[in-house]
Amino acid sequence: MLIKKIGIIGAGTMGTGIAHVAAKNGFLVKVYDEFVGAKEKSLATIEKLSASSVAKGKQEPAEREAMLRRLQYVNSLSELADSDLVIEAIVEVLDIKLALFKQLDEILAKEAIIASNTSSMSITTLAAATSRPEKVAGMHFFNPAQVMKLVEVIRGFHTSDETVQALKDVSDKLGKTSIEVKRDTPGFVVNRLLLPQMREAVKILEEGVASVEDIDTALKLGLNHPMGIFALQDLTGIDICHNVLEYFKTEMGDQYAPPLLMKQMVKAGRLGRKTGYGWYNYSNNN
Ligand code: NAI
Repeated sequence: MLIKKIGIIGAGTMGTGIAHVAAKNGFLVKVYDEFVGAKEKSLATIEKLSASSVAKGKQEPAEREAMLRRLQYVNSLSELADSDLVIEAIVEVLDIKLALFKQLDEILAKEAIIASNTSSMSITTLAAATSRPEKVAGMHFFNPAQVMKLVEVIRGFHTSDETVQALKDVSDKLGKTSIEVKRDTPGFVVNRLLLPQMREAVKILEEGVASVEDIDTALKLGLNHPMGIFALQDLTGIDICHNVLEYFKTEMGDQYAPPLLMKQMVKAGRLGRKTGYGWYNYSNNN
């Protein structure tokens, strides 16, 4: 199946990044977000980043203009009806995603593919909210989506080979490398490895073993990670990390429960870069 038109739902961190990379690589992109102000902020981000690419000589001005013409922000979900592929990138809350998948199934053409950018949730469960489970899969990008090379293409129980292939082809066209996650398990591959490490880092901090800065330095210099695990939580959003751990706990047991300190950070609204303060303070450099 040839995919030309991509609908993106959720104009937050991930939806914005995916929309940017898709429009840049020739797809016709429509973005929908139900919250007032999200679309304007998303477009402003893409305009700013692409203007900076032009200023640095990485993109021709005409290419930027063409990219922006392929990008449209819409005011209703029904305007995504002609999409060949819809990528859902809304909040990581199962009931909200399920309600959206049900709505999408009613709006979209029968042959359209619905993909979720979920960090952890069951593709099989999301697919069950539709009448087309063979056309539902995970398409998991990494943050920032414009930069990170990996896409996990995840099979739900019923996902067809054709759907997996179509999403791998889209990933190729976006300049990404895809891996196929053959079984629909919480966190897939990357987050199954990453989230327990985030959890353990907060536990180490709680126990007073080392500071945020020193734990990050340990990972960077001892394991050659490009960034520290606390800096990565701030980039991802501590609320997102917390919600994924809650989900792991529900699906796989108490050993994945988010630590108390992480819960408190979320309650206090210290969510990371997006709120200007997380494990680190960004209020002076944003
Ligand atoms: P975000 O909080 O930055 O953005 C979510 C957006 O969805 C918001 O603009 C919100 O207004 C919108 N939204 C919420 N409910 C909606 C609905 N029913 N209809 C339309 N729009 C709605 O979240 P972020 O970080 O972009 O995450 C989105 C998804 O991507 C989540 O499933 C998350 O787990 C996943 N993800 C996040 C990564 C990250 O590093 N932040 C990395 C990879 C995946």
